[in-house]
Amino acid sequence: NWSMDDFIDLQIEHIRKEVGNKKVLLGLSGGVDSSVVGVLLHKAIGKQLTSIFVDHGLLRKNEADEVMDSLVGKFGLNIIKVDAQDRFLSKLKGVSDPEKKRKIIGNEFIQVFNDEAKKLDGIDFLAQGTLYTDVVESGTDTAQTIKSHHNVGGLPKDMKFKLIEPLNTLFKDEAREIGEKLGMPDNLVWRQPFPGPGLGIRVLGEVTPEKLRIVRDSDWVLRDEIAKAGLDRDIWQYFTVLPGFRSVGVMGDGRTYDYTIAIRGVNSVDGMTADFARIPWDVLQNVSTRIVNEVDGINRVVYDITSKPPATIEWE
Ligand code: XMP
Repeated sequence: NWSMDDFIDLQIEHIRKEVGNKKVLLGLSGGVDSSVVGVLLHKAIGKQLTSIFVDHGLLRKNEADEVMDSLVGKFGLNIIKVDAQDRFLSKLKGVSDPEKKRKIIGNEFIQVFNDEAKKLDGIDFLAQGTLYTDVVESGTDTAQTIKSHHNVGGLPKDMKFKLIEPLNTLFKDEAREIGEKLGMPDNLVWRQPFPGPGLGIRVLGEVTPEKLRIVRDSDWVLRDEIAKAGLDRDIWQYFTVLPGFRSVGVMGDGRTYDYTIAIRGVNSVDGMTADFARIPWDVLQNVSTRIVNEVDGINRVVYDITSKPPATIEWE
């Protein structure tokens, strides 16, 4: 039962030995795992690491900036940020089938990543934030057959890189502990699980800029209220979903006909099963009031009280 300090020292030594004076490429998703790998590798090999961060326009509010500010600003990583919002949106135009959307986002991600990687010379290694659970689940993951999962861990199979996966013996909570030991800020280390296709699967049906705005802004309000209530580390995952139907309401003395936002909050250990979170009524009330007041186009807020199974955590 070794300590995480030992783990960091051993990994750094191991990485230095393996990489020598060669170069390493890392795909950053903004999530905990790839960010921890980035900081760890940077500590081990400094400028020999180049990271690519694809902003597909389906990230949460301020997410891209937070990642860049911290990893570039505080830790000095060399990150190539690719602004690919338009590319993804145009591919998604007119598509409403959830599996098609997932495939489009996953494929486009790989293409954007490859396009950038090709511009770089002399890369020998590809680093990934694979965790022990990813290793164990791959191949037998039943979720894969329910939804085609995509994350940065599943990147370019056709590229001839040697893989570096420093976290592949760790669980999520251990990866977080490494992040804390490396001095990473709470907003990176304690990030909730976030799906590769991002907000693209939280706008049900066709993804439009207007619907993305609604889901992004309402998600921001929810996160803000959950944090203010001191619940941000107690609830495993919480977010909003835009089902895309309209209903009648009344505001001031006028009739409204606007969208409904659904709040999803779950507790889970590994995402395979989940129980809906018992968020206190008064917190939900604040969220509801603020979303209707602050997010244009919403006149109704509902709370999802299904667990998994029979529902899944994400709605698509
Ligand atoms: P579901 O919706 O299948 O989600 O109950 C279980 C957990 O997995 C996350 N999720 C994903 N994670 N790529 C990921 O890396 C994906 O494509 C993806 N789809 C869902 C989801 O947020 C939940 O934590």
